[in-house]
Amino acid sequence: MRGHAYAKINLTLEITGKRPDGYHELISIMQTISLADEIALEEGDDLVLDCNRRELATEDNLVLRAAHLLGRGGHFTLLKRIPVAAGLGGGSSDGALALRLLDALYHIHLTPERMVEAAAKLGSDVPFFLYGGTCVVGGRGERVVPLPDLPSRWLVLLNPGVPLSTASVFGELRPDEYVQIPKATHWGGQDLPPLANTLEAAAERLEPAIGECRQRLLAAGLSQVLLSGSGPTVFGLAADQSQARRIAEDTGGIAARFVGRTEALALEA
Ligand code: C5P
Repeated sequence: MRGHAYAKINLTLEITGKRPDGYHELISIMQTISLADEIALEEGDDLVLDCNRRELATEDNLVLRAAHLLGRGGHFTLLKRIPVAAGLGGGSSDGALALRLLDALYHIHLTPERMVEAAAKLGSDVPFFLYGGTCVVGGRGERVVPLPDLPSRWLVLLNPGVPLSTASVFGELRPDEYVQIPKATHWGGQDLPPLANTLEAAAERLEPAIGECRQRLLAAGLSQVLLSGSGPTVFGLAADQSQARRIAEDTGGIAARFVGRTEALALEA
């Protein structure tokens, strides 16, 4: 059994406050995009993970943690393409795909509620990837409402090439930066929501190269440019595929397109 673990961008990520459990309350419109890892799973009693980046095949990899959670073994092969600790949800997407592959290969038939519960244990962004496409995500990430696919769009991703930990960016966020009335709550669901990311300023205080990436995309001709998640990857929406490819080449970025739900959830036997 195999599948693609697509990356995500946050078209909006608005933080409304800090919770008693230490996590932050958020509302985010998330979108899967065509940049993807690939995972194959073969049946087996032993639990093995092979990865083209061997330093990632450690016990804390979310693929292995997913298998431990469901109490199953098998031979996983992970082809890693999504930059790590980049704000693109790569590790989370791998974890969600591992849950889906295990569920399908071993005919576990977990209910959607149990799948979301397991996903939330792996990380705040993991439940979203059980749905993919376009979703509104709330709570600390565990409340996911799937939306109809948005019209496909091309974009350019620009990554400063330095990892940035999610926890450090949330730690840098100041209470005066919390959003009172999230823009996402006023969005009608058509076309694109107004881009917004509460973490952008905090992430840029920790990693000034984010500002340089944003400037490069703006200078290349993109006007809708935003930090994805906790960064440090910045994305810019393009008019079409040819503009995205040209700007990706000029800036050293990656061209990608929105991936809808059916494509995001496809598995191959
Ligand atoms: O859930 P996950 O392990 O991916 O979160 C990583 C870190 O990001 C958490 O330890 C927390 O510091 C921060 N976080 C947060 N609020 C969220 C999600 C993550 O404060 N909603």
